[in-house]
Amino acid sequence: MTVCFTSVEPEPTPEVLLATQHLYERVKRVIPPMEWQFHAPLIQEINQLKRERDAVVLAHNYMTPEIFHCVSDIVGDSLALARKAATTDAKVIVLAGVHFMAETAKLLNPDKIVLIPDLEAGCSLAASITGADVRALRQKYPGVPVVAYVNTSAEVKAETDICCTSGNAVEVVESLGVERVIFLPDQYLAAYVRSQTKVEIIPWAGQCEVHERFTAAEIKDYVSRHADLVVLAHPECPPDVLAVADFVGSTARMVDYVHQRQPKKVLMVTECSMSDNVAVECPNVEFVRPCNLCPHMKRITLAKIRDSLRTLSPAVEIDPAIAEPARRAVERMIAVGK
Ligand code: 13P
Ligand code: SF4
Repeated sequence: MTVCFTSVEPEPTPEVLLATQHLYERVKRVIPPMEWQFHAPLIQEINQLKRERDAVVLAHNYMTPEIFHCVSDIVGDSLALARKAATTDAKVIVLAGVHFMAETAKLLNPDKIVLIPDLEAGCSLAASITGADVRALRQKYPGVPVVAYVNTSAEVKAETDICCTSGNAVEVVESLGVERVIFLPDQYLAAYVRSQTKVEIIPWAGQCEVHERFTAAEIKDYVSRHADLVVLAHPECPPDVLAVADFVGSTARMVDYVHQRQPKKVLMVTECSMSDNVAVECPNVEFVRPCNLCPHMKRITLAKIRDSLRTLSPAVEIDPAIAEPARRAVERMIAVGK
C-alpha cells in the first residue's frame, strides 16, 4: 500500500519518528506502524504547541488511542473531566470530547480559553432537550427538583437545579433528600437510577444514539460464543441490556473494573475506542468488541487538535446570563460526595 501525505501535513522524518518512539511503544498493540507514520508528526507538533500555548488537553475515554495516550494531559469520564477542569492552572484547555464537555470546562473556567477542535461534535442526548422543554416540565411538576445529566447544553443546565454524570447519578439524586425528581434527558440512565433508589424518577425521552443500538440478544450471543466472558455495560444502554451485564457503571468505573480485576475476557458495552485505550494498559485481558462508534466523538482528530492549538479556535463562549445558573448546577454536582 502507498501512503500519501497531503501537502499541508508534516512528513514523518526519521527525527520525528525517533522523538515519538516512546509514545509509539505505548500504543503499538492497537496502532499499526503504517498508521503511526501519519500520527507521529501531528503528535510531535501538538506536544510542542501545548508548551508554547500553556495548554492542556483533556480527553474523554472515547477518544482514539493516538489522542488518548499520546497528546492528553488529563483523561477520564465526564465526571473526572469536569472535576479536573476545575483545578487546572493552564491558560488554555483543549477539550478532546464533545461540545457539552467543553461547555462544562468553560463554565468552570470562565477566564480561560477553552477550545473544542470541532464545533459540530455534538451529542444526541444534548440535542434531545431545550431550555424551553425544562421550563415546561417545571410547570407540569411544580416544586419538583430537576437533575440534568451533564450531557446537556449550558442553556438546559441553566434551567436545572443540579447536574449529574453517569458516575454519580444515584448519589446526586439521593443528595437532594426529596421523594421525587425530574431526571433528564436520558430515559435509560433514568431507568437505571430508578432501579437503584427509592426516589421517584420522572424521566425525559432522550437516548444516546450509540448505546441505544445494543440489544440483549446481541450480548447473549457474545456470551454464548465466549467462555468466561465478563460483560460491563454503560447505564445509557437499554434496561434489558443492563440485565444481562455482570457490571454496570460509567466509563471510568468500567476502566477501573478491568484494571483491578483483570478478567480473562471482557466485553465493554459502550463506544468502541474505549476498549483500545484500556487494551493498551491491560495486555493480559482479551477484549471482545462490538464496534459502536460515536460519530460526534470521532469528529475530534489529531489534525483538528493541532489546528485549534495553532489558531486558538474554535473557542467556547457562553452567554453570561446562562453561564451563571448553569455553573451553579455543575458546582452543586461537584460538591456532592466531597
Ligand atoms: P461517561 O461520563 O460515563 O464517560 O459517559 C459520557 C458519555 O458521553 C457516554 O456516552
Ligand atoms: Fe452523546 Fe452517546 Fe456520543 Fe456519549 S456516546 S457523546 S452520550 S451520542
